[in-house]
Amino acid sequence: MASEKVLQAIERQDWFQPLEEGLSRAVDRVYDSMGPRGRAVRNFLHGVWLGHPLHAVLTDIPVGAWTAGFVLDVIDELRGDRRSGRPADAAIATGLVTAAAAAAAGVTDWRHTDGGARRVGLAHGVLNLAAAGLYAASLVARGRGERRTGRSLAFAGFGLAFASAYLGGGLTYSRRIGVSHAAAGGEPRDFVAVLAEEELHEGAPRRVDAAGVPVLLVRRGGRVEAIGEVCSHLGGPLSEGRLEDGVIRCPWHGSRFSIHDGSVVDGPASHRQPCFETRRRNGHIEVRAASAASGRAGKSPAY
Ligand code: FES
Repeated sequence: MASEKVLQAIERQDWFQPLEEGLSRAVDRVYDSMGPRGRAVRNFLHGVWLGHPLHAVLTDIPVGAWTAGFVLDVIDELRGDRRSGRPADAAIATGLVTAAAAAAAGVTDWRHTDGGARRVGLAHGVLNLAAAGLYAASLVARGRGERRTGRSLAFAGFGLAFASAYLGGGLTYSRRIGVSHAAAGGEPRDFVAVLAEEELHEGAPRRVDAAGVPVLLVRRGGRVEAIGEVCSHLGGPLSEGRLEDGVIRCPWHGSRFSIHDGSVVDGPASHRQPCFETRRRNGHIEVRAASAASGRAGKSPAY
């Protein structure tokens, strides 16, 4: 498949690595410099409040604005109009402003990616930066009355933005960046036994298998809580994470989830974990999908 070949070619570019490391350090420095507010800003940009990545929402605006600008420029060009074009100028300016917001969310998510996806994400960002530079130059040229030059620069910017969007699609649909990696849809609707009671110790996270679905069990204050074990961010093993005050921290990129209802406490994850009900039967702990009884995710386990 053509898209797979493009992604793989970018993933082989080892010379990107110093740039990846430098940009990661710069992102960390920016958030560290904000102190406690950095955590709130980071969670906002990850889309923790939204339930999925904010970047996916924000990118629609510059893509739409620049597409509108492209169409308006083409119409003006076909008409031979060398003077007007204010609607196209406004569309391009709107695209530039909103692209900055999309970039802030994108680079915040990118900081917590790994391997090939990280490399493709960097190429995606560089292409967007180049497109934004061309659009900015286009606006300057238009302001000087050099409309023909302005349109040419915008056409080039549109081409780069299109190529960047192609890579962004590959990241989502092929590398599964920004989608939930937590098991979904296969959770048992009826209670299944997963562990002998005496094998679950207070405060010690434990991975169990519930009809093929990995589940995280935690005994806390006499209650047994159960959420999906596979981290929704990129599939990290939550049972190997640190448990603190009813919150489990993923060992891979530090996302934090409530073990009570699977909600995200801190990103980079923005999708909540599946939640399970628990009960005790014949010396065993049994679980089933919380939604099996409540019709909604996040129901409190009833142990
Ligand atoms: S896999 Fe990234 S935070 Fe869990």
